Order: sequence, then structure tokens, then C-alpha cells
Amino acid sequence: MKLTLKIWRQKNANTKGELKTYPIDGIEGDMSFLEMLDVLNEGLINKGEEPVVFDHDCREGICGSCSLQINGEPHGPDRLITTCQLHMRMFKDGDTIVIEPFRATAFPVIKDLVVDRSSFDRIQQAGGFISVNTSGNTIDANAIPVNKHDADESFNAATCIGCGACVAACKNASAMLFTSAKVSQFALLPQGKTEATERVLNMVAQMDKEGFGNCSNTGACEIECPKGISLENIARMNREYLGASIKG
Ligand code: SF4
Ligand code: FES
Repeated sequence: MKLTLKIWRQKNANTKGELKTYPIDGIEGDMSFLEMLDVLNEGLINKGEEPVVFDHDCREGICGSCSLQINGEPHGPDRLITTCQLHMRMFKDGDTIVIEPFRATAFPVIKDLVVDRSSFDRIQQAGGFISVNTSGNTIDANAIPVNKHDADESFNAATCIGCGACVAACKNASAMLFTSAKVSQFALLPQGKTEATERVLNMVAQMDKEGFGNCSNTGACEIECPKGISLENIARMNREYLGASIKG
């Protein structure tokens, strides 16, 4: 395939970026999107030009680092996959592909296609954990009964990989889907009940402090989420938040 790539290039957070055009040839349908970018970068390096900087680690849909806006969609045109799992067979010969970083005030661009998503880490640190008694009287987690429905719902919420596609898909750059997945994961389990009140209050406060917008129920986040995290988590977080606010 011959393609035309329009790629966002930006030196650092303090400079203005722009879309630059790169023609590319010899791309096969079985290549992943990131392998296609590897081919581009090899060519740029061979010509003595600066390669395009993009984020990646596992390349198998687990780490959540490969965050790219492809033709206006987080993780591109396929569904329930990350950018590293996207195959070039989704495009056809002669296509133009626009590649940008995820856009949100709370995700500042570091360089080219790489954004700083440490705001997600700080939301997680505000309450996305349980405290465990390690005094020698620790109860084996498997000894606490959990009903099947709650266990499954909790597991589904825990599959969120923190990629940020939900934020990039949202016109308000809301992080409600991410935060609600992290809240739900614990709220559904007996082990998470002890700290439930402060968890939801602290995580929502941190989310607001980071500059994410509010949820206006468009559902774009759920559609673009590579892990199929459901909007039901947002409804659960809102209920948890209301209950926690009343308790004080
Ligand atoms: S909720 Fe989905 S889109 Fe948002 S960070 Fe988690 S996995 Fe990514
Ligand atoms: S590189 Fe890890 S999810 Fe894509």
C-alpha cells in the first residue's frame, strides 16, 4: 500500500505543533499500525531526519501507552482494540491518515505524539487502592465470599488499562469513565467497602483538580474504549459519590 501520513510534530510542551505530511510505500495489511510507524521512522533516520516520537510498550493491548488519535478517533477505526492491535488492513491503498496525540488540557503534549498522562496516576493515588492489615492476622482474600455477579462486574471494571481514549473521545475531555472504573473495581468488593467513602470523594476531587471536564452523557467514551468499559460504572460512581457526600 501507498499511503499519505499527516502527523502532528511538536518539539516540546512550550512550542507550537503542526501537521507534517509524509508519503509512505510498501505497507502491508498484516502490519500493525505501530509497525507502520516503525517503517516510517527507519526511513526518516536513514535520511538523517528526526524520527516521530510515539508512546508504546507491550504492543499487545495491555499497558495502555499507545495512545494515538487516528483520523479523529482514539485508537483508530476498529473497535475494542488499542492502537498497537490495529492492523493496516483497516486502510486501503491511497488513503490519507491523520495521526495526532490525544487532546486534553490534562494531557499536555510532551513531544510529537506523546502526551503526559500522569494526571491519571494522581487520580489513582488519591484512592485507587485498599489498605491491607499485614500485622500477621491477614485474612486470605479467597476466604471472603463474593457473589458471582459482583466479582464479574468488578473484574470487568478492573480491565481498564488507563489509556485515556475515553478522555480523548469526549468533547468535554471528561475522565469519568476511567475514574468510575477504578472506583467500581473496589466499590463492588467487600475488601473495598472500608475505605469506600473517602475513596470516591478523593478520586473525584483529584479528577476535578487535574482539569478534566464533566460528563454530559454523550457515550463517546464507551464507544472508543478498547476494553469495553461500560457507562454503568459512571452511574455507579455517581451513586457512590452521592452516598459519600451525604455521609460527609
Ligand atoms: S475506561 Fe477505557 S478508554 Fe478509558 S482509560 Fe480505561 S481502558 Fe482506556
Ligand atoms: S503498546 Fe501496550 S497497549 Fe498498546
